[in-house]
Amino acid sequence: MKLWILYDTKFGNGKTLAELLKKEFSEKWEIKLGDVKEISPSTVASDAPDVLILGGAIRMFMGAPASKKWLKQLNKELDNVNKEIQYGTLFLTHALSTSKVQGYYKRFLKKLKKSNRIVKTYPQMLTARVQDVEGPIIESELEKARKFIQEFNKWIES
Ligand SMILES: Cc1cc2nc3c(=O)[nH]c(=O)nc-3n(C[C@H](O)[C@H](O)[C@H](O)COP(=O)(O)O)c2cc1C
Repeated sequence: MKLWILYDTKFGNGKTLAELLKKEFSEKWEIKLGDVKEISPSTVASDAPDVLILGGAIRMFMGAPASKKWLKQLNKELDNVNKEIQYGTLFLTHALSTSKVQGYYKRFLKKLKKSNRIVKTYPQMLTARVQDVEGPIIESELEKARKFIQEFNKWIES
């Protein structure tokens, strides 16, 4: 299986989370990580992974704008090369309380579901709260992330 994990980070928390998620997959998997500011959608589309994990951050009351834009472009690029990604899921880092970010979460997930080149969308997504604007990610959120990705892994294998 081939997997890409993308994130949009300013202070490194998104990258830390991506690296934690990576560890939960089998070593046999080919896993690549990158920032949406550095990895073009065409690079990922032509690489044709089986799985996409796309992260974003809430900043200035906007939910993952760069990652949503990147996702839209990815869909176009997948159209161009006539390829599909079988499984997709998302994560969102934020500083506000988890109960306050549900709307952002749902809108981000809606974008993934709209991407017709991503065949199966995991019905949940992961939110990870940072302690302060610059982080770090709250310890209990890291455990939540591990459990989330183990369940995602099972969902792929089912
Ligand atoms: C300019 C700015 C605005 C932010 N606005 C919000 C916000 O509206 N809601 C929120 O929950 N977090 C907000 N945050 C916190 C970010 O979500 C947090 O810095 C980010 O998730 C950390 O991940 P990163 O280190 O990968 O960038 C803001 C951060 C910055 C720098």
